[in-house]
Amino acid sequence: MNIMIMKNYKTLSKIAAQIVSERVRMKTHLVLGLATGSTPLGMYRELVSLSRKGIVDFRGVTTFNLDEYYPISKEDPHSYYKYMLTNFWGPAGIPPVNVNMPDSEAADTIQACRDYEQKIARAGGMDLIVLGIGRNGHIGFNEPNDYLTADTHLTRLTEETIAANSRFFARPEDVPRMAITMGIGTIMKAREVLLLVAGSSKADIIKKTLTGGVRTEIPASLLQVHPQVTVLLEKAAARYLYPDKYAIPQNMEERDE
Ligand code: PGA
Repeated sequence: MNIMIMKNYKTLSKIAAQIVSERVRMKTHLVLGLATGSTPLGMYRELVSLSRKGIVDFRGVTTFNLDEYYPISKEDPHSYYKYMLTNFWGPAGIPPVNVNMPDSEAADTIQACRDYEQKIARAGGMDLIVLGIGRNGHIGFNEPNDYLTADTHLTRLTEETIAANSRFFARPEDVPRMAITMGIGTIMKAREVLLLVAGSSKADIIKKTLTGGVRTEIPASLLQVHPQVTVLLEKAAARYLYPDKYAIPQNMEERDE
């Protein structure tokens, strides 16, 4: 794992965008896994700006999103489909045929999950996946549990996740209770992982994720066994790791810009 501490959210977003755009420049037809939530918004803004300046061209890129509420209409302003269209796919000029999202309107969710896995495989697997982390350690909607599911699946959100996501809805009861998410195996098969962690509210979980053992009650801790992970940590999120050098995993550096 390469762990880099960023002085603030702006720097984190810039460095994340640099990493993604470097990979796109190296491989025009990059297959990119993407996350929603608050954390990657700054990165998306930077990527759109780089694309507008002609520094990176996303027209050849294929994207697969990590997760989507179920059931939800694509047109619903709370859908992750709308979030992606507004914040990234649209302004970055990614052709609509190249973007993929779990089917939030499917009648047969088992088939929809299988189809999603097959689409990723047919695209050649993900070259890079960008992840955020939930305060309970979830990645995608792989929630803490005694066991984790490998493949894309329908899952029930925990009360903690529903409460965290209620900030985007008028009322907590409006938050969908279910979602389709890539499984832990789907994520682990990505050739490279970029984990973005911002804010002091993530300080506790990121310490447990990076420094404890691998355990299913912290799904993100499984990333410890992935061979190619970069973690970009805003300083506030690293406060329980830093400056306590003893708690710091190897390969950690501090970046200013
Ligand atoms: P956040 O969500 O970026 O909005 O904190 C991350 C997550 O829940 O995975």
